[in-house]
Amino acid sequence: MATLGVNIDHVATIRQARRTVEPDPVWAAALAELGGADVITVHLREDRRHIQDRDVRLLRETVQVKLNLEMAAEPSITEFALAIHPPQVTLVPERREEVTTEGGLDVVGNLDRVKVCVDQLQAAGIEVSLFIDPDPRQIEASRMLKVAAVELHTGAYADAPLGSAQAEELRKLQQAGQFARDSGLILHFGHGLTYRNVIPVAAIPGAGELNIGHTIVARAVMVGFQAAVSEMKSLINRASPAQ
Ligand code: PXP
Repeated sequence: MATLGVNIDHVATIRQARRTVEPDPVWAAALAELGGADVITVHLREDRRHIQDRDVRLLRETVQVKLNLEMAAEPSITEFALAIHPPQVTLVPERREEVTTEGGLDVVGNLDRVKVCVDQLQAAGIEVSLFIDPDPRQIEASRMLKVAAVELHTGAYADAPLGSAQAEELRKLQQAGQFARDSGLILHFGHGLTYRNVIPVAAIPGAGELNIGHTIVARAVMVGFQAAVSEMKSLINRASPAQ
């Protein structure tokens, strides 16, 4: 059965917009767990645009379900990950100018560089997942690196127009998923999944973690907005009763 990895990066995005202390992703992680999250996922980017080192340190202490640290296969972040020692690391490609992770990790084209990072993490007992496109060559390269899991990029499926184009992207995910499982890899999916498009992906045989972030944070803002305004209004009314 598929499980839910809640990516809380964008809670930190809102905090960083003001460089303040709220909303705290550590608090959000606890609420996500209460809501049924099986995994808490954070991406510590090189530019620290949302999640900060402090968040990962605290989450390592407080998260009761699995903590999944997304990161680039770079030496300085690897050193940080080795010190924090999360149960799982997902290696992702990273470019400073991108709005979000675009495309999967090119394991085929960066085999040596990725291998150095994978070997260091796995030697320390950290489970490694590689975020890759649903491409058999990338799956084969991942298998060669002896990682535990791959996370297949669902962005093309999420962006495809409804109908035959989306069905074709779903078919690619299904086929790549089957190939990954036949290769002995645990199967995760993520990126661009929403309340509208998640069900067919969750139904793919062998689907494990689904890592979902933006749509959950977006929905949380909407379902919580009225209550938040109403609480503020009550405070103001208490201080200045109607005359
Ligand atoms: N999985 C990976 C590897 C990602 O990089 C991201 C985005 O940070 C996600 C899942 C979550 O994507 P989204 O925010 O679109 O749900």
